[in-house]
Amino acid sequence: MISTEKLASIREQFPVTKRQLYLDSGHQTPLSSSVRDALVSFLTEGYEMAGPKPVWVRRVEETRANVARFFNASPSEIAFTKNTSEGLNIAANAVPLEAGDNVVLIEGDHPNNAYAWLNLKSKGVEVRFVPLKDSEIATAETFEPFIDKRTKVITLSHVTFHAGQVHDLASIGKLCKERGIYLVVDAMQSVGVIPLDVKALNISVMAAGTHKGLLVPQGLGVLYVADGLDELRPAYLAMSSMLNPPADYIARPEDMAVRKDALRFEFGNVNLPDLHALDAAIKLIESVGVSEIQKHVNELGDRLLSEMEALDITVVGPRASGQRNHIYVLELPVAEWADFFARNNIRVSPERGGIRVSLAMFNTVEDIERLVEVIRIGLLNKTRRPTAAQMD
Ligand SMILES: Cc1ncc(COP(=O)(O)O)c(C=O)c1O
Repeated sequence: MISTEKLASIREQFPVTKRQLYLDSGHQTPLSSSVRDALVSFLTEGYEMAGPKPVWVRRVEETRANVARFFNASPSEIAFTKNTSEGLNIAANAVPLEAGDNVVLIEGDHPNNAYAWLNLKSKGVEVRFVPLKDSEIATAETFEPFIDKRTKVITLSHVTFHAGQVHDLASIGKLCKERGIYLVVDAMQSVGVIPLDVKALNISVMAAGTHKGLLVPQGLGVLYVADGLDELRPAYLAMSSMLNPPADYIARPEDMAVRKDALRFEFGNVNLPDLHALDAAIKLIESVGVSEIQKHVNELGDRLLSEMEALDITVVGPRASGQRNHIYVLELPVAEWADFFARNNIRVSPERGGIRVSLAMFNTVEDIERLVEVIRIGLLNKTRRPTAAQMD
């Protein structure tokens, strides 16, 4: 558990903690003071100096190196994108796929991943969906019966947004390595809250936005493309993708060689304000440690699970530790409960299976106790007066 003093200083960084019970980091992060300060400094530089662009560009490279270290990658394997969807679409269009090849996904996984691959059906690529219960996680065994010689890609979320499952990337990565299958991971819900070692997990491509566990506003994504996958070709090209960008800015058709590193997938100018914010965010996350954050949210999750059991409220996702992390979906009817939580100044998300509680480094045991107290009141009122309108 993060120490009480450390937790107090983390909460100081997140002023939202003084205003409401924020249990919605799986939706978007509230901003920390250090991230806000980084954005303000960037805006001040742009405002007062119209942008010291070479300085900004140098900082982008420093941030790239920090992001790479964060995932145990090398800077040459990191490209900056707009969001998770862009990264996944880049992957879907870069992997060499022919008519008759197949891609395997999990049924009900995030639509932003599913659509990127379903879009390839017009090229004759088969998309196979593997059924999986919300209470279970995917392992290599889940995928085995669905793959064959024409399987080129397995793709899935590391942590699911709708049930909080933490899929077993280690066994899936091993399977992919043995069978020569690309493993493409949507890490949107796991970055910053679960340590991620792209090499140990044998991930080929990993895409994530940065507005949840990486603590910055929407509009910046991180894309990891393993070195050596030279056959992955960018569907779009800009000068920044080229191996020999022309110094005179005149494109020459006879030299279309693209870069070998992940920068071949980075097109034009990047989200400079967010990149400044990301550097500050990574420093904040590393001052706590991703493993510590993971332990912290898991301990809060343990407490939440036992409280829900006592109240006889089903939690949609898996219960075993290691199979869940910071996302817990409570089987409470959204139509009745979403407004009730809002009226009690608790920020959560409506989800397909109920109400989603998502935990972050700044949440405390007291936060869980407050949530439970409010649920108890809601349940009491509900037994007395059953309609949603009467629940407060
Ligand atoms: C698993 C997962 N993937 C992707 C996204 C979002 O995609 P994007 O970053 O493209 O907006 C979310 C939620 O916002 C998510 O939970």
